[in-house]
Amino acid sequence: MQIADVQDDIDRVLLTKEQIEKKITEAAAVIDRDYKDKNVLLLAVLKGAVNTLVALSSHLHLNAQMDFMSLSSYGSGSESSGKVTIRQDMSVDVRGRHVLIVEDIVDSGLTLSWLMDLLHQRGAASVEAFALLNKPARNKVHVDVKYPGYEIPDEFVVGFGLDYDEKYRNLDSIAALKPKVYEGDQS
Ligand code: PRP
Repeated sequence: MQIADVQDDIDRVLLTKEQIEKKITEAAAVIDRDYKDKNVLLLAVLKGAVNTLVALSSHLHLNAQMDFMSLSSYGSGSESSGKVTIRQDMSVDVRGRHVLIVEDIVDSGLTLSWLMDLLHQRGAASVEAFALLNKPARNKVHVDVKYPGYEIPDEFVVGFGLDYDEKYRNLDSIAALKPKVYEGDQS
């Protein structure tokens, strides 16, 4: 899906398909180098990270294993409480593994911080993260993201995995929604 398909709902494009591709390609080159002699396990957090995982993995030259986790962060409205629960656990035993978490966005930072702690507790040899987006204005905790992508302002953004009401995930760029799309929605 492209911007033209949802033009009426979009305020402006924040990141084009080409800008996203560029950042992911650059990160892949660094990850290739850093994990050259390691058997990296890419762990994507469902659902938003799927697009990023596909793009990142396709630019890697090394062999990477993939796994998935579905997490839920309960809170009031759009505010994360930090109480993360596992909806669907990963299938690989991470003991002794070099895990690279793949995320679409760091918002409060609570999900990624919680997941990194969990993987350490489970005995991973190393735990790092690639996050395509970060909203610094919303960060509640500091998370050490070794492979950061773009910093974006505190706006309601969709596309490239990010949704509003489960829509726009398959948009090939990242864009800010017009307030009319979500105004009146208290969730
Ligand atoms: C998003 C995103 C991260 C998390 C970041 O997932 O994919 O996992 O929120 O938020 P935080 O930094 O405040 O913890 P979401 O819960 O919206 O689910 P989704 O990926 O299925 O859309």
